[in-house]
Amino acid sequence: MTSTPTFPAGFRWGVSTSAYQVEGAAGTDGRGPSVWDTFAHQTGRIVDDSTGDVACDHYHRYAEDVALMAGLGVSAYRFSVAWPRIQPPGSGPASPRGLDFYDRLTDALLTRGIDPVATLYHWDLPQPLEDTGGWLNRDTAHRFAEYADLVAARLGDRVRLWITLNEPFVHMSFGYGLGTHAPGRQLLFDAVPVAHHQLLGHGLAVAALRARTTSPVALTNNYSPVRVLGDTDADRAAGAAYDALHNRLFTDPVLGLGYPPDLEPGPEVVRDGDLTTIATPIDVLGVNYYNPTGVHAPEEGSPLPFAQADLDGYPRTAFDWPVVPDGLRELLVGLRDRYGDALPPIEITESGCAYDDEPDADGRVHDPERIAYLDGHLRAVRAAIDEGVDVRGYFVWSLLDNWEWAEGFTKRFGLVHVDVDTQARTPKSSYAWYRDLIARSREGGPRAPGLDGGPRAFGFGGGG
Ligand code: BGC
Ligand code: BGC
Repeated sequence: MTSTPTFPAGFRWGVSTSAYQVEGAAGTDGRGPSVWDTFAHQTGRIVDDSTGDVACDHYHRYAEDVALMAGLGVSAYRFSVAWPRIQPPGSGPASPRGLDFYDRLTDALLTRGIDPVATLYHWDLPQPLEDTGGWLNRDTAHRFAEYADLVAARLGDRVRLWITLNEPFVHMSFGYGLGTHAPGRQLLFDAVPVAHHQLLGHGLAVAALRARTTSPVALTNNYSPVRVLGDTDADRAAGAAYDALHNRLFTDPVLGLGYPPDLEPGPEVVRDGDLTTIATPIDVLGVNYYNPTGVHAPEEGSPLPFAQADLDGYPRTAFDWPVVPDGLRELLVGLRDRYGDALPPIEITESGCAYDDEPDADGRVHDPERIAYLDGHLRAVRAAIDEGVDVRGYFVWSLLDNWEWAEGFTKRFGLVHVDVDTQARTPKSSYAWYRDLIARSREGGPRAPGLDGGPRAFGFGGGG
């Protein structure tokens, strides 16, 4: 491990959230339903039968939450805009009341010296668009670009970084392939048109944003380095297939390389000019990282060309995800090696972990595992920078314990504990740790994660 990692001057320190996971106020000020409202209200979809109707009530408590960010000293807040607040029917003119919320939030951030970083789409498709096919329907890409234009017309002068889509791979695979996320479709590889239409929507939205703003524009993907388990050719082929699906499908076409072999949607889906639109240059690549994936050859008769398996020998989060900080270094260096000069600068737009954090008898919330997690992952980022990867920022997922999709309120990712019943916010010890790290980095002193004498990285197995 590096002894005193420092980060480049101007490195962006941030926190991330998304609209449906924190805002609540589901029926307020004319907001329409999204696919997540529909899905969460269906019996059996969410482990604790909860919904995002109230979530963290961020819609009403944003000022308190911005004050928490100011207390952390972050330079940026990544939030997402709820499309169903801006266009409740999924098309047509913008709802002024919907835009007003993001206007207030943006100004509150700027007043505190925090850069607003806006994601346009974090999975909450207006339900009326799902009713006409959702992302299986090519029209949705055009609707998305119109929505991007409406948001940028209002916020384009103040948002400092735009992100079109969040994790289109997860949205396609969980939402349309496996059905564990909204809209709950189970199409397996028949979901591939969803990839193309999201990519097309992304490219069209980049052009729409460029017409309204000079701020940089990004796409955020989820990446997972593949660990091939087994040493047969079939295992290696399975690893390559998984890598193409998870790591390349939404990056190769955007960076001008076209679709990976075997994943190109047919000519009935891809029209002339689409690949050019999709490859409209971006300024930043957003990288979300949680864990590597173990892959081996599938059983005979499997509908998938790979099988996933647990990676043994690592600590685990409350989500049972392996803690492998070095996987972040590996993936950053791997992106640079794969894409070379075609790769734009990177911002880590999500990194974080869930643990069962609860207040102790004194009301304090101690989360040494999260501190160790963040410490390890920041060291991995620093190591990648040392290897020449251009990483400009790091956003912790998440500011708050929020509504974790199909896991409802059972997974806590926050630097700040939220009591679901009272909405009381309690900064955890990781909040103080991150605050001190940012402060040291600003002073230009020793800017090392983990130098404050707090709980240190535990044994990271073979990972770090
Ligand atoms: C993956 C994460 C991903 C998450 C989406 C997990 O299975 O390991 O990387 O972010 O699913 O909820
Ligand atoms: C998503 C977040 C989610 C996090 C943890 C990412 O896949 O973008 O919305 O909460 O992972 O699962």
